[in-house]
Amino acid sequence: MTNADFEKIVDTSDEWIISRTGIRERRIANNGTHSSDMAVAALLKAMEMAKCSPDEIDAVIVGTVTPDYRLPSTACVVQEKIGFPNAVAFDAVAACTGFINGLSIARSFVEAGNYQKVAVVGVEKLSSITNYKDRNTCVLFGDAAGAAIVAADTNGHGVLSTFMKSDGSYRKFLWMPTGGTENPYTADFTYDGSDKIAMNGSEVFRVAVRQMCDAAFKVIADAGLKPEDISLMVPHQANIRIIDAIAKRLGLGMDKVMMNIEKYGNTSAASVPLALDEANRSGRIKPGDHVLMVAFGGGLIWGAALVRW
Ligand code: ACO
Repeated sequence: MTNADFEKIVDTSDEWIISRTGIRERRIANNGTHSSDMAVAALLKAMEMAKCSPDEIDAVIVGTVTPDYRLPSTACVVQEKIGFPNAVAFDAVAACTGFINGLSIARSFVEAGNYQKVAVVGVEKLSSITNYKDRNTCVLFGDAAGAAIVAADTNGHGVLSTFMKSDGSYRKFLWMPTGGTENPYTADFTYDGSDKIAMNGSEVFRVAVRQMCDAAFKVIADAGLKPEDISLMVPHQANIRIIDAIAKRLGLGMDKVMMNIEKYGNTSAASVPLALDEANRSGRIKPGDHVLMVAFGGGLIWGAALVRW
């Protein structure tokens, strides 16, 4: 969907959307495509890149807030669709930080030695929970998936540090009011959009900049590095102005920042792995590079990871 498409359904403009968010287009999955289908497509490509077969995978972690079902997890659906005979599969529900939380859990599993290879996926079909009558939110979101295989390495490459944090007192800044146990659907529920994403954008913006910077500084210090050692920052693609503000505070030039928000919009848990994959395939990441990933989302929850490529 382009900005012109949104001009036809809500009171907005291409100029407003680009100047406030940096978004020009988003990808919208069709009705028959579920989150698990997109996750499977991404995971098959990741396994091909890692030259790894399904029977080698010990755990599958899927970051998503748009599961195929409320029960069971989307990870279990993915397990059935690809066939991972030796794995445990579960979801990490952490909105836009779902991939970073999954990566952090995978790192702990592998370092503890109980799992050798862990598949981490970030996937969202945000179009299924977007209120296309609410101009405050509908122009922001898109659908996507990205995946990575995490395995032990003894040559100094890999995840050097991770950080995760949340503050549930901010939960109503970005939430879906209806459909859970607090406000369940009732027999007389009339559609009012309250089972879709509702957001206080300016409050989210304010907390996002502060906490993403703190998370980034923390993983950089924990890895024994300085901001100038970062080769590429791959931030959650929520808003170009949030990304600019973080880059400025870290002292990173925009040549060291991966951005693809223009083409995909905010794809929540898929955003970081999608951007990471594009950066990698386009040759922007070289062996030995220090790659900083940082994300922020509904919870509110935030996190970062530092990887030596
Ligand atoms: N088109 C035109 N006008 C709009 C639109 C739109 N699509 N959306 C909002 N406006 C209007 C508002 O109604 C408001 O009008 P008013 O002053 O008459 O009330 C005006 O624009 C300004 O609204 P603000 O909220 O102050 O605009 P802001 O500059 O903050 O930009 C935005 C809004 C883009 C949502 C920004 O706040 C933002 O990006 N916030 C963070 C979003 C985010 O990071 N979400 C987290 C991750 S998402 C997840 O976890 C799934």
